[in-house]
Amino acid sequence: MTDFEAMWREIAPLGRSAATGGYLRQPWTSAEGELRAWFVGACEARGLRVESDGLGNVVGWWEPVGCSPEDRLLTGSHLDSVLEGGAYDGPLGVVSGLAAVDRMRALGVVPRRPVGVGVFVEEEGSRFGLACLGSRLLTGATTWETARELRDRDGVFLADALEAAGLPGPRAADPDLLAGVTTFVELHVEQGRALVDLGHAVGVASGIWPHGRYRFDVEGVADHAGTTRMEDRRDPMLTYAMTVLAANKAARLSGDRATFGRVEVLPNGTNAVPSRVTGWLDARASSAGALEALVERVTTQARERAERDGTTLTVTAESVSGSVSFDPDLAGALATGHAGGDWPVLPTQAGHDAGVLSGAGIATAMLFVRNLTGISHSPAEHAEVPDCLAGVDALAESLTRLST
Ligand code: GLV
Ligand code: MN
Ligand code: MN
Repeated sequence: MTDFEAMWREIAPLGRSAATGGYLRQPWTSAEGELRAWFVGACEARGLRVESDGLGNVVGWWEPVGCSPEDRLLTGSHLDSVLEGGAYDGPLGVVSGLAAVDRMRALGVVPRRPVGVGVFVEEEGSRFGLACLGSRLLTGATTWETARELRDRDGVFLADALEAAGLPGPRAADPDLLAGVTTFVELHVEQGRALVDLGHAVGVASGIWPHGRYRFDVEGVADHAGTTRMEDRRDPMLTYAMTVLAANKAARLSGDRATFGRVEVLPNGTNAVPSRVTGWLDARASSAGALEALVERVTTQARERAERDGTTLTVTAESVSGSVSFDPDLAGALATGHAGGDWPVLPTQAGHDAGVLSGAGIATAMLFVRNLTGISHSPAEHAEVPDCLAGVDALAESLTRLST
């Protein structure tokens, strides 16, 4: 069994629902804590020097003697999942990073730069609603003053979640995990079917579509489901339902993406007109202008409908990630010159810590590994072992090219 397969087997049960096969690896929960402990142990077993901050971001460093600490090369990804997520989104990049270090060592590679394998916490924003929270705090893209106000679905503040997980939160003595990092390469499972269609096991990312999460709060008037005449209702569910359809139509017409995947209803009773419906729009588009236009269009239609329904609408942007163009020279350098032919270069509609690090001025690239089902954020996400191993080889080769 390869190192990759052995590690994959170790983490497979962590946070997995026996009922659905989906993963529940929300940040600062016991499942995610077990994964972090596993990662630290795996780094220590390899003699990597482990650094972590008060949030739970961790890096294991391979620092051969004589390496310049000013010019560090980092790989890695995240270990948290969406609710009922798949096994590969995030962990594939972390486990492949460790396996790539093993492979480079087995081949006798001695890097001239420190090579780190990192884990960024709360990449999915599944608990606190802000995507890539760990890397955003690390790079300063989000400040602690903003983040400390975040609450999860149960009303728990971020600082309290950190304390419950045994983490101190940002501290004066926190190591700057990104100090001296000049290059980042994140390997990730592909979250669509492009590589399946192209017949390639591995690809390289060109960029990330801008995307965001917007909370739609619709207030109405709670009332009896039987005695309230249809024409007397102020029903926020109607406003919400029409907004969902409008978002879907707007995105189809413009070639963008719009999804309402989360909704909360108050009081959520079968025999009552609800008092309030809150839905979260996830919108993504090929340009910042197109994203703004899409959200504007959905908001306008929702407002018009709210007026007809006698409800009130408030829209709040909770997490917005700008357009990312990865370093084309770096992408080109990684994609070309292979015995088996060039790797395809593709854009993605999914968000990644790589986008945040790129925004912080670090030369960044991403490798994608073929996902046989093309499905992601679902237990059906799947990469075959030979493709995962091709990903490890591709990452080891990329890190070798960039460090020797
Ligand atoms: C993360 O995977 C996202 O794109 O939401
Ligand atoms: Mn994801
Ligand atoms: Mn991911």
